[in-house]
Parts: sequence; C-alpha cells; structure tokens
Amino acid sequence: MSAWFKPLNQPIHDWLDKRVWIVGASSGIGAALAQSLLEAGAHVTISARRETELQSVAANFPKAHVVAFDSAEPQAWPEAMQATLSAMGHIDLVVLGAARYDPTHSWSLNLSDVQKSFDLNVVSVYRALASLVPYFLNRQSGGIALIASISAYTGLPRALIYGSTKAALNNLAETMYFELAPKGLDVYLINPGFVETPMTSGNDFKMPGLMTPKDAADCIKSGLQKGRFEIRFPRGFAGTLRLISRLPYRLRFWLLHKTTGM
Ligand SMILES: NC(=O)c1ccc[n+]([C@@H]2O[C@H](COP(=O)([O-])OP(=O)(O)OC[C@H]3O[C@@H](n4cnc5c(N)ncnc54)[C@H](OP(=O)(O)O)[C@@H]3O)[C@@H](O)[C@H]2O)c1
Repeated sequence: MSAWFKPLNQPIHDWLDKRVWIVGASSGIGAALAQSLLEAGAHVTISARRETELQSVAANFPKAHVVAFDSAEPQAWPEAMQATLSAMGHIDLVVLGAARYDPTHSWSLNLSDVQKSFDLNVVSVYRALASLVPYFLNRQSGGIALIASISAYTGLPRALIYGSTKAALNNLAETMYFELAPKGLDVYLINPGFVETPMTSGNDFKMPGLMTPKDAADCIKSGLQKGRFEIRFPRGFAGTLRLISRLPYRLRFWLLHKTTGM
C-alpha cells in the first residue's frame, strides 16, 4: 500500500491481553472505554481520584486493575506508573483523559480556575509524558492517546479556559507524532464533541450531536483499531466545526454567532 494511504498509526487488530492504562476512568468516556476494552479481552488499569467509583467500573472484570491517584499532584505520576506496571507487567497503550471544565466567559475570569485547569488538563499530561515517553522509547513500542476536544478547533463561548487547554493538547499531539512516530511509537489525538457525562451535566444549552459515553467509547475504539491519528466524533458535528474553523475569520465569527446565538 502506498504510504499516502497507510494509517498514520499501527492498527490494533486484537485487544486480547493488550495492556491499557486509562487515566480519568472513574466516570464518563474513560469509564465506558475501559469497560469496552475489558469486554474485548484487554487488561486495563483504570485511574482517577475516586477509588470507590473506580472499583465499581472494575467490578466483574478479572483483568481490571485500579490505581487511584490525583494526576494534578506533581509527584504522583512515577508512583502511579510503577503501580500500573506492577499490576499489568507492561503498558501497550495509555489514554490520558483526566480533565476539568470550568465554563467561563471573558468577563468572568477566575484565575484560580485558570491555574487548576491548566495544571490538570495540560501540565499533568506533560508530567505523564516525562515518565511514559522514556519507557515506551526503551521498549521501542507503545501508544499514547490524548483526549482533547473539538473545542480546540476554534474559540467558542464559555470555553475561555477549557478551549485553550484542549488546543494546547492538539498542538502537543501533533509535535509528539512528528517526533515519536519515526521511533516506532503511536500517538493519537482524540477530539470528542458533546458527550453526556458528569462534565457536561451542568450545560444549560442545547448540545448539538450529544452522544452517550458508550457511543463515544465505540468511536475511540474503532479509531484506535483503524490506526487513525485524529479520532474525532460525532462525524457530522465535529466535521462541520472543523470546516468552520478553516474559514476566514469574518465568516467564521458570523457563523458561530448565528449558530450559538451568542
Ligand atoms: N463530555 C464531553 O462532552 C467532552 C467533550 C470533549 C472532550 N471531553 C474530554 O473527555 C475526557 C473525559 O471527560 P468526561 O466527559 O468523561 O468527564 P468526566 O466523567 O467528568 O470524567 C473526567 C475524569 O477525570 C478524572 N479526574 C478529574 N480530575 C482528576 C485528577 N485531579 N486526577 C485524576 N483524575 C481526575 C475524573 O475522576 P475523579 O473525579 O474520580 O478524579 C473522571 O474520571 C476529558 O478529557 C474531557 O475534557 C469531554
């Protein structure tokens, strides 16, 4: 197959006994993805802060392991990674999805929210990479998936803080792909649209293309299996926003004002 038509990452043909570590898996998309991969036969270590919720996600799955930790804690990553390695022996794929969403307008900025969001959504990802990249390079294989958001594509109302943290992850994943793919590693950028989870439960506006966590997990699993670099969904809404983000600013702002009513 010509290089132009090859998937950007190595397709995952079989989940049986794959070792996957999902951070941000006590609820929502991470929990649904964990259950889907466990059902497919993978070993999955699930992490987040709330141990009781993690235990209930893991219940009835003998190949599920729980490592509870606060990923915004500067010192926590090496220890959590060691616990994950002790539980599973090795790691084939890590999915980094722990995040917070503080809906914010330009006129209601709270600097403490800015600090907390960037610490968790961005800095904790770099902390994870500081431990994971040397590990995967040493093994000469492994996959790193960052859960960002389609809000990274363009500035959107209320997303003053969240949108820029997720835009940072889009850029980060692109750079990682450039540098790590030639060394045999896989890098995935997951950009979900609206998913019905605790994170969006406070949204008081109509969320176009709203999906269930299970459908979101199915899209992620399918994208990983196909070896996609960017896994974006739902197809229609995410594709439209992507297209809008490529328009000249005058037209883009006009369209966004019209569609969001803001
Ligand atoms: N829902 C959407 O519409 C949507 C759209 C685009 C992107 N996303 C992204 O998808 C990912 C999953 O979000 P979700 O919608 O599934 O929301 P969610 O159910 O609220 O999940 C967030 C997860 O992050 C964990 N977490 C939060 N703070 C943490 C910390 N300090 N340390 C460790 N874990 C922490 C939470 O568990 P604990 O509270 O137990 O720690 C939870 O497991 C996020 O990256 C989010 O930005 C979601």
